[in-house]
Amino acid sequence: MKLPDSPSLTAKTARSSKRSKTYRSPSPQGEFVAIVGASGSGKSTLLHLLGGLDRPTGGAVRIDGEDLYALKESQRAVFRRRKIGFIFQSYNLIPVLNVEENITLPLLLDHRQPDRAYVSELIDTLGLGERRKHLPSELSGGQQQRVAIGRALAYRPAIVLADEPTGNLDSANGREVLELLKLAVRQFHQTVVIISHDMNVAAEADRVLRMQDGKLVSDSRGGVVQ
Ligand SMILES: Nc1ncnc2c1ncn2[C@@H]1O[C@H](COP(=O)(O)OP(=O)(O)OP(=O)(O)O)[C@@H](O)[C@H]1O
Ligand SMILES: [Mg+2]
Repeated sequence: MKLPDSPSLTAKTARSSKRSKTYRSPSPQGEFVAIVGASGSGKSTLLHLLGGLDRPTGGAVRIDGEDLYALKESQRAVFRRRKIGFIFQSYNLIPVLNVEENITLPLLLDHRQPDRAYVSELIDTLGLGERRKHLPSELSGGQQQRVAIGRALAYRPAIVLADEPTGNLDSANGREVLELLKLAVRQFHQTVVIISHDMNVAAEADRVLRMQDGKLVSDSRGGVVQ
């Protein structure tokens, strides 16, 4: 799978496959990519490899021209913070920080001044304008997940990786979160890779990758799976 501005991605889903899979295909920035497959097929494993959270036993992951696993752990942590936005099923917000602080946290950790206009637009787009000084405990699940989306987008990362981001939400909130992720692709030209069991997600994605038994078995864009 080719990621934005990178020549290729070669990943091996090590837990369930001994063979290395090379997968190349153009993937311009601003694309909504869905990863689908049965439970245990290796979707989360692939996402963790793409995000530098789990080391592959073979192959390489390149994002923005950088070979993720050639970096030292400390360098990889910084790269992750700047270039990769994560959204998980659990929101993982900092309880003592308010909405705005949670969203800008990746920048604050880097001692960078957030782009105020962009952050404001982001917060308004996420429907959190009235809640920017509230703590996570004062928010609904859907609102908390929207904060997590904001945090993932705050740095304008090369790629956003979302693992079942609607898994803990009711259908109305789940739909809203999906619409916001799609908006991130259209409005902020963000590439979003999402794992979801929701059939609507695959139907609406620009591109669908299907996993089976730890292998990438199809790509709706016709990329090569060797
Ligand atoms: N930390 C781990 N150590 C060893 N094996 C693991 C670990 N996490 C997952 N696995 C195994 O790797 C395989 C792929 O798991 P993975 O979590 O990637 O599946 P998934 O497609 O995300 O499934 P689900 O839809 O249920 O989330 C499974 O057989 C799983 O049991
Ligand atoms: Mg999973």
